[in-house]
Amino acid sequence: MDMPMPLPSPEVHPPAAARAGWWDGDPQESGFVATLISTRQNVSPKRLVEPGPSEQQLEQLFRAAAAAPDHGLLRPWRFVIVPMERRADLAEVFALALVDRDPGATLEQIESAREKAHRAPLLMLVVAQLGAVEAQIPALERMVSVGCAVQNMLLMAHGQGLGSSLTSGQAMQSPRMRRLFDLREGEEPVCFLNVGTVARRKTQRMHPEPQDFVSMLRRESGER
Ligand SMILES: Cc1cc2nc3c(=O)[nH]c(=O)nc-3n(C[C@H](O)[C@H](O)[C@H](O)COP(=O)(O)O)c2cc1C
Repeated sequence: MDMPMPLPSPEVHPPAAARAGWWDGDPQESGFVATLISTRQNVSPKRLVEPGPSEQQLEQLFRAAAAAPDHGLLRPWRFVIVPMERRADLAEVFALALVDRDPGATLEQIESAREKAHRAPLLMLVVAQLGAVEAQIPALERMVSVGCAVQNMLLMAHGQGLGSSLTSGQAMQSPRMRRLFDLREGEEPVCFLNVGTVARRKTQRMHPEPQDFVSMLRRESGER
């Protein structure tokens, strides 16, 4: 007879806890989490080279996305990988979207727009599903879920020793982009997520101080 798997004790090593499906946290490990979060940085696709994530790492990235907080369990995101053999099609959309916006764009500008599709080893479109699948959950909340899913992936890539970045721009709003990715009603292209090996790192930016964005709800005037 199969014995049930024993649950790990709270101080068990995180990988064992991940296999068991729960973890109570561990003050010893919070330093690692803080380091992972505070040292992640946007690595421009120009600085992302081969090798990209392995099959196993790619699966870890998507499982990280799947663990994002998700009110109503709508899974209001999806990702569309652009393989190397389709990069030329994306390049064409970048180029034509530029010409649509600026018919006077120079050949150099058009070439530079085109070139953006060919950079990172792994490039995928982040799509938000904001349409009325479940009207109870506002689009704003769904966007938070999408952001959390993306951040989980960025952190996972960083933890894997890879670099990552988000890229967007005016081409995101082009109908050509919607057509290439076959976006449905209620879906919005958010940005591209790029992953690869870091060729060159820039210096870490200064993060804002908590005092600049945290406040305490004041006592109501008249309250003693
Ligand atoms: C939705 C989204 C779109 C972004 N698009 C771009 C972009 O087009 N170009 C760019 O250089 N950075 C882009 N970024 C990355 C930010 O510029 C970057 O996160 C910011 O400079 C902070 O740097 P850090 O991530 O290294 O802390 C984007 C970030 C988000 C959240």
